Amino acid sequence: MARIDVEKAIEELTLGEKVALTAGRDFWHTAPIPRLHIPSLRMSDGPNGVRGTRFFNGIPAACFPCATALGATWDTELLSQVGELMGEEAIAKGTHIVLGPTINIQRSPLGGRGFESFSEDGVLSGTLAGHFCKGMQAKGVAATLKHFVCNDQEHERMAVSSIVTERALREIYLLPFQLALRICRSACIMTAYNKINGTHVSENEAIIDDILRKEWGWAGVVMSDWFGTYSTSDAINAGLDIEMPGKTRWRGEALAHAVSSNKVAQFKLDERVRNILNLVNWVEPLGIPEGAPEKALNRPQDQALMRRTAAESVVLLKNENNVLPLKKDGSVLAIGPNARITSYCGGGSASLAPYYTVTPLDGVSAKSKGDVKFTQGVYSHKELPLLGPLMKTADGKTGFTFKVYNEPPSAGPDRGIVDELHLVGSTGFLMDYVNPKIKSMTFYVDMEGFFTPEEDGLYDFGVTVVGTGRLLVDGEVVVDNTKNQKQGSAFFGTATVEERGVKELKAGQTYRVLFEFGSAPTSDLDTRGIVAFGPGGFRFGGSRRVGQEELIATAVERASAAEQVVIFAGLTSEWETEGYDRDHMDLPPGSDELISRVLAANRNAVVVIQSGTPVTMPWAKDARAVVQAWFGGNECGNGIADVLYGDVNPSAKLPITFPRRLQDNPSYINFRSERGRVLYGEDIYVGYRFFEKSDVAPVFPFGHGLSYTSFSRSNLRISTVPERSKYSEAGEPITTEVTVTNTGSMAGAEIVQLWIIPPSTDVNRPVRELKAFQKVFLQPGESKTVQLVAEKKLATSWWDEEREQWISEKGRYHVLVTGTGAEELRGEFEVGKTRFWLGL
Ligand code: BGC
Repeated sequence: MARIDVEKAIEELTLGEKVALTAGRDFWHTAPIPRLHIPSLRMSDGPNGVRGTRFFNGIPAACFPCATALGATWDTELLSQVGELMGEEAIAKGTHIVLGPTINIQRSPLGGRGFESFSEDGVLSGTLAGHFCKGMQAKGVAATLKHFVCNDQEHERMAVSSIVTERALREIYLLPFQLALRICRSACIMTAYNKINGTHVSENEAIIDDILRKEWGWAGVVMSDWFGTYSTSDAINAGLDIEMPGKTRWRGEALAHAVSSNKVAQFKLDERVRNILNLVNWVEPLGIPEGAPEKALNRPQDQALMRRTAAESVVLLKNENNVLPLKKDGSVLAIGPNARITSYCGGGSASLAPYYTVTPLDGVSAKSKGDVKFTQGVYSHKELPLLGPLMKTADGKTGFTFKVYNEPPSAGPDRGIVDELHLVGSTGFLMDYVNPKIKSMTFYVDMEGFFTPEEDGLYDFGVTVVGTGRLLVDGEVVVDNTKNQKQGSAFFGTATVEERGVKELKAGQTYRVLFEFGSAPTSDLDTRGIVAFGPGGFRFGGSRRVGQEELIATAVERASAAEQVVIFAGLTSEWETEGYDRDHMDLPPGSDELISRVLAANRNAVVVIQSGTPVTMPWAKDARAVVQAWFGGNECGNGIADVLYGDVNPSAKLPITFPRRLQDNPSYINFRSERGRVLYGEDIYVGYRFFEKSDVAPVFPFGHGLSYTSFSRSNLRISTVPERSKYSEAGEPITTEVTVTNTGSMAGAEIVQLWIIPPSTDVNRPVRELKAFQKVFLQPGESKTVQLVAEKKLATSWWDEEREQWISEKGRYHVLVTGTGAEELRGEFEVGKTRFWLGL
């Protein structure tokens, strides 16, 4: 790759070539123009790690803790290191552009992609995202802030119009993008699927051109979300540079025609092309050749950073009687559905095949010097556990064979195999599976292996498909998911529900399992309004039928006699996934009952919850120790164990409010698309802004998190500089200094939070808003001065819809400094004159 003379290239490119540049070549690459040495660039998701170019059967990658976990660290330096490592992971996958971070706002705990975004608060989210991008871009890899903007639910995500006031749009939803760009100008931005007040973002001039480019002065590449371009001329004119993915639906001949007929002015097309060529130059120093091979890094130093990140994200919500940390020389009974699986990531485009995973039980076992025992308590899978890892191929390998044909099984034994793979996980999303021998989107796969049960009993089998599928055991059809299919939530909301069947099996006997799959076009499911991602997907699972009461009763009995008990419960990528919003905030069936009954049997049982967004905790008052552990990436189990045993002193704080019940949420009555729109009726009162204003007590508030040590805060000093009549670009700082002391006996980190309380005027404003934060590490007895700097204009302003400008109103503002524990320090400062402003 060599640098391109952009203006010269614009002169030399033909209309057809310019048009070609404005759309993807395929799922993950931009279009090249070899004649002018313009290369194709590679893109890859995303917020949790860099998957590379294959969803199906891809090369494993580092999986980072989910964004709410990263949000809980409140650690800008750590986020920058995570961004750097993700940049290196991208380079290993031959990737120029990473499709992340996601910085939408968790309007509701139910949002399917809530786990992918840092926080309900724009200052926390935007600041962390900015440092993450800074780290990544320092490695030369382009970051993509997404999804711009108001893509805060999955229900009808392409068709829904977010009805939002200009004030909420600015103060809540655009703010994280604005703040991230102040810290680091990300090279790319991805538009959201949805409409805002009636116009899709990918063709919304007011959002892309007026705000992003003109008002904020940002000059990078705007790409659509996958299949989120809906017009030719409108999208080009609004400023959408690249339609993704390819092959194009809206550009190509249609765009050439639009330019010829002057629906799109030539200079508008040139603006799009200029941005794309500038991006090619921006990533040129990476020196990644076209079609670069995809490699795995997985270095020891990376594993250490992943482990540190996982541990620093774990929030200690409650710890009465110092139940935690656990004693290493005591015995432990681990109970629960999340103990022996790794809930490392949420579902959808954020997910990837990780290098390895560590379960919580593995993490605890590696640390404990005492006996570690496990009992299931309940299962919490939504669909039956994958059968593939329990199967063997004819030649004895774990897993099954995957044989691809152009003809259906009815064509008989002479069908020619066009591909043969060996797989272990019996699930695959084939969106980027390509094989030149496959003649059309319609093809068939036989997956075959052998299963030898360890116990006699009734076995349930399940099949979920984007396409059609039949599961046969020893030639008998046990599940038929080929007709009368029902829409489900898996595979980005494009799949059927799991169809189930049952068969009695004998222990020790070997059964031949055959799963016959037909790709997406063989399905009769009505998928209107749903993004169709390529040729389909499959999942088959199975397990022995067990009685929940029996499992819970065993757990309770064993807990009552156990020395130390830890319950691992929560959600998985089945429950929290792109394409589907949860129906309720509760844990999977049986989990709350298990937790309550175990707590009644053992008051000191520790409850560890893994979820990307809040769950209801009806047992919270009865538990002495509660830990929120998110989806923790590769090193999930080690990170959790580091905190449980006190090798890492917890310092994380909640980046989202944990409400007592779903109905307490401000978005409760306005979440889901109704006749094509969703009303953002709570306006600016999202998350803590609502709970504080309405005085509704959550179970655990935004910013809450305990430590094994204690801290004090003292000596608050606030300094401001005289106001200038006109704002400079950077604005005037408010500098706050506070002395923080570790008053306990264990080294640990504190997160100092700075809030501003506005003067009361005739405009409705939140009780207080977070404006800055800082993490500081202290040895026992040590004191440090922590400095928090906020920009006066931004820290005091609200959006004035009448003037269409930010307004910083004259008056006395209070400053509140908080951290671990209830102690608050208060100060104040003055804004001498009301001023209006616009810009980044
Ligand atoms: C998601 C994007 C993602 C893209 C490519 C879409 O479904 O909304 O966030 O980057 O797919 O995987």
